[in-house]
Amino acid sequence: MAGLNKVSVDDINVKGKKVLVRVDFNVPLKDGVITNDNRIQAALPTIKKLVADGGKVVLCSHLGKPKNGPEDKFSLAPAAKRLAELVDTKVTFAKDDTVVGENAKKAVAEMKDGEIVVLENTRFRGADETKNGDNLAKELADLVDDQVFVMDAFGSAHRAHASTAGVTKFVKETAVGYLMQKEIKFLGNAVEVPERPFVAILGGAKVADKLNVISNLLEKCDTLIIGGGMAYTFLKAKGYEVGKSLVDMEKVDYCKEMMEKAEKLGKKLLLPVDTAITAAFPDPIDAEIAVEYVDSDKIPADKMGLDIGPKTQELFAEAAKTAKTVVWNGPMGVFENPVLAKGTIAVAKALAETDATTIIGGGDSAAAVMQLGFADKMSHISTGGGASLEYLEGKVLPGVDVIADK
Ligand code: 3PG
Ligand code: MG
Repeated sequence: MAGLNKVSVDDINVKGKKVLVRVDFNVPLKDGVITNDNRIQAALPTIKKLVADGGKVVLCSHLGKPKNGPEDKFSLAPAAKRLAELVDTKVTFAKDDTVVGENAKKAVAEMKDGEIVVLENTRFRGADETKNGDNLAKELADLVDDQVFVMDAFGSAHRAHASTAGVTKFVKETAVGYLMQKEIKFLGNAVEVPERPFVAILGGAKVADKLNVISNLLEKCDTLIIGGGMAYTFLKAKGYEVGKSLVDMEKVDYCKEMMEKAEKLGKKLLLPVDTAITAAFPDPIDAEIAVEYVDSDKIPADKMGLDIGPKTQELFAEAAKTAKTVVWNGPMGVFENPVLAKGTIAVAKALAETDATTIIGGGDSAAAVMQLGFADKMSHISTGGGASLEYLEGKVLPGVDVIADK
């Protein structure tokens, strides 16, 4: 089994110690209300373990992409409040524009064993955080007397920031949490030692975002399925007329190369055989629209393809059903629109119905699966968007790399 050969929270003793835990509480908010608390729920096993062991648990995270320093709309206060509802111990939110200023120090100084302090958004420190500056890293370590750092923010592990990586230089002990272990177990097994057939399904708008994922997964999987906006660049590469569909002309040659690579490796590469077409992109995105379905080589010059068609739904669902392992990242069409969500729903349904190990690679496909109510039918829904993609590309995640080996 592919595993994570890193010191974990099971290997350390935190009783009476201050423990800095990097979580990914970058949750979606609407008018200050959390619309999906999945990432907070996913961090609970580690938090509860450290609380039960009598650690003084100091949590840090980023939220959103604040560009101009502290701003209320990016505060972690709502996440701290939600966490307080989910645990049985005291949770103090250390409101502090500098993250590790007087207020944070006071809150940490007053903690008892088994209590929790949540720090303010680490990105309120701007480049100190995102350029991995030693000053913030040192201040974070200082706050926990340079004792223990636990990395459980899988969703942020592809970022080499002060709170995800730099801080490890200044503490005595480092460990990964249970969420990190779980994510790497599922994604790692799928990529390194999959039960075969292994089918990978990729979607999403832009082929440019997934270049290395396509190439890496082609080597690992038995069948690679391409849907979503990026499929049209592949269809173009096959020499089809794709009308006004989204095409990345600069990547047409790349798609040709990938098709050749699949052939050379003896891998199946499935593209949409039919497509939903409209005259224009829906505006607003969920507007009522009329679609037609045509074969992929019959897209009229004045139309655009925005979802896979019914024959493709069946083709992809069949491929998924014969698999023992499926990894899926990226929607099959413009799933924000009910008429153009059919392809994404069909794939989600096929995955929900199979006995295969099904792994949803975060981001939009995870959101789609949750919205459709299929979440508990999947083996694993990753909490990482960018992080799971980089992992599937075969990259080393800096937030994993910095943790001590076993
Ligand atoms: C995510 O939502 O993918 C993670 O929290 C990382 O966020 P970032 O892309 O803003 O670094
Ligand atoms: Mg931090």
